[in-house]
Amino acid sequence: MSKPSEARTADPFDGRPPTSHERMTGEPWDASYQDGPAPWDTGRPQPAMVRLAAEGRITGTVLDAGCGTGENALHVAAELGLPVLGVDVAATAIAVAQEKAAERGLAAEFAVADALRLADLGRTFTTVLDCGLLHTFDGDERAEYVASLAAVTEPGGTLYVLCFSDQGSDTGPHPVGEEELRAVFAAGGWEVADVRPERVQTRFHGADGAPAWLATVKRI
Ligand SMILES: C[S@@+](CC[C@H](N)C(=O)[O-])C[C@H]1O[C@@H](n2cnc3c(N)ncnc32)[C@H](O)[C@@H]1O
Repeated sequence: MSKPSEARTADPFDGRPPTSHERMTGEPWDASYQDGPAPWDTGRPQPAMVRLAAEGRITGTVLDAGCGTGENALHVAAELGLPVLGVDVAATAIAVAQEKAAERGLAAEFAVADALRLADLGRTFTTVLDCGLLHTFDGDERAEYVASLAAVTEPGGTLYVLCFSDQGSDTGPHPVGEEELRAVFAAGGWEVADVRPERVQTRFHGADGAPAWLATVKRI
C-alpha cells in the first residue's frame, strides 16, 4: 500500500504537543508506520474485539480511538454494519486504513485526530473502542484522555479498553495493574462495570499473545 507523500511536514507533531510516549522515544507515532508494519499491527482485528462484536456488545455509533491501520474499526463496519470512525495521530496509519476501507468496500471513516482533544470532532458515540492507546499515556495524560472521552461518549454508552496487563509472564510494554486501570475512571462520570483478564495479539509475542485486561466502562 502506498504511504501519503504529504504525511510528514516540518512539524512532525502537526502542531499538537508530543505525548509522553513520543517524548520518551524521540519520535512521532507516525514513524512507527513508515518502515513496515508496526509491532502491534497484526493485520487482523484483536480477538477480544471480534468477541465483543459477536456478542452484540458493540452498538450504535462507534469510535475507535488510536485506531492505527483500522482493523478493529473495519471489523465493526464489515460484521455489524455500524457507522464507525477511527482516529489516530499517525497520518500514515490513517491513510492505510482509508485505503483498506476503499479496497474492502466498507463505509468506515478514518481521520487524523488527537484522542486527547476528541471534543474537536463535534460528534458523539454510543460505543468507544480503545485497543492499546490508554496504556501508552502517562498519569496526567490518562486524566486528560478520560475527560476527552467523556466529551464524546453518550450517557449510557460504553467504552471498551484493551490494554497490556502486569499479570503473568511475557508482559508487553506499558503493563497496567488492575487497580491502576480502575483508578483512571475514578474521577466521576464513569462506572467500571468489568475488568477481566484477556490476551492481546502483537507481532512480537507468540500465537497466544500477551497478557491484557479488557475493561468495560459505562458512561454515566
Ligand atoms: C499500540 S498502537 C494500537 C493501534 C491500533 N489500535 C491497533 O490495535 O492496531 C497505539 C496507537 O495510538 C495512536 N496514538 C497515540 N497517541 C495518540 C493520540 N493522542 N491520539 C490519537 N491516537 C494516538 C498511535 O499512533 C498508535 O496508532
